[in-house]
Amino acid sequence: MQILIIRFGDDWKKCLELPPKDTRMRTADVTSTKGNEFEDYCLKRELLMGIFEMGWEKPSPVQEESIPIALSGRDILARAKNGTGKSGAYLIPLLERIDLKKDHIQAIVMVPTRELALQVSQISIQLSKHLGGVKVMATTGGTNLRDDIMRLDETVHVVIATPGRILDLIKKGVAKMDKAQLIVMDEADKLLSQDFVVLIEDIISFMPKDRQILLYSATFPISVQKFMNKHLKKPYEINLMEELTLKGITQYYAYVTERQKVHCLNTLFSRLQINQSIIFCNSTQRVELLAKKITQLGYSCFYIHAKMMQEYRNRVFHDFRNGLCRNLVCTDLFTRGIDIQAVNVVINFDFPKNAETYLHRIGRSGRFGHLGLAINLITSEDRYNLKNIEDQLVTDIKPIPSSIDKSLYVAEFHSASSFY
Ligand SMILES: *[C@@H]1O[C@H](CO)[C@@H](O)[C@H](O)[C@H]1NC(C)=O
Ligand SMILES: *[C@@H]1O[C@H](CO)[C@@H](O)[C@H](O)[C@H]1NC(C)=O
Repeated sequence: MQILIIRFGDDWKKCLELPPKDTRMRTADVTSTKGNEFEDYCLKRELLMGIFEMGWEKPSPVQEESIPIALSGRDILARAKNGTGKSGAYLIPLLERIDLKKDHIQAIVMVPTRELALQVSQISIQLSKHLGGVKVMATTGGTNLRDDIMRLDETVHVVIATPGRILDLIKKGVAKMDKAQLIVMDEADKLLSQDFVVLIEDIISFMPKDRQILLYSATFPISVQKFMNKHLKKPYEINLMEELTLKGITQYYAYVTERQKVHCLNTLFSRLQINQSIIFCNSTQRVELLAKKITQLGYSCFYIHAKMMQEYRNRVFHDFRNGLCRNLVCTDLFTRGIDIQAVNVVINFDFPKNAETYLHRIGRSGRFGHLGLAINLITSEDRYNLKNIEDQLVTDIKPIPSSIDKSLYVAEFHSASSFY
């Protein structure tokens, strides 16, 4: 394997290069794939500890795109929704760059609401737990101004704020921005609305000329574009609004009774050219039972389910990702699709009940453009759900044919057919 794997606790100095871009199976609409680990970014060990304690296993797409660029000091304009790991995408590089030897404000995160300010400050406190003394302060309207003034009398490295309050503190000369090199705008579409944009520009005018701006927004209204043209310097643009897609995945169903499922799985194992597979069951007990059966049949497998300790789960998943085992049995644990390139077959041993779960199990993020096979074991009870999910996702799940064309899911055959 070409990818340099550095585990937690190894020598961090070895962390010199990012893994090579993945060149395996892709469909035409793909421009880049990564598959990085948090270890790849040469972050401080203490920060990595915080990241793993948050239960973050691997950078999300917006994090993969943001972290190295933000660390390099370049401006970023990112289109990303909530729930995509956006706060980690800017907090990780932000915290990495805090210099504890200096006691002035070094970074400011602007958010539109008090709720978001509290949420972001909570995450930064947890992430920086082992960093030994990063001081994070949240300041928003609707709280006692004098408390904030007193707080700023002590060391503060990172301010998380709504625009009105922080501007107030800046103008009073209490919050000093002249050495703050980084400003993040979360939910920038809201921050740059008519009511706020003047305040934001005012705040920026108190910062150094060469400050870095990271801007995250779900939409790109004119106000954001105008602001970008005026204040961002050659921003690196990230657009991750792509949804999970079933494009490139060939989906079949096999009609079975409950008792035939294991036998059917065994047949699939012997007939398919599986590189790595993930097999979904609907409960913890069924995961454990099936994993045992698969082992008895003579195939290697790992299993994870929701009742395992997060840390242990992460370890198993990490090992699976690194190819230590061919098959993984699990319950629904993935919220943004499986993005392991080596997985070319996904099996629904138990068919899910709704379209969203199906999509999370089978779908891939568009930019990975993965080719693969999804096989659904369907009992008579699942028939209605099958029809329903097909309708809702506007997709076609066909009966499994007696032989399956390898070019649909096996990398070598795929590239062979496209090259010759
Ligand atoms: C899981 O699937 C089995 C077999 O199809 C079924 O008997 C059981 O009720 C299902 N459990 C849940 C929680 O859906
Ligand atoms: C097959 O899986 C192994 C890990 O099990 C991985 O290293 C390899 O790159 C995979 N091959 C393809 C074509 O995805």
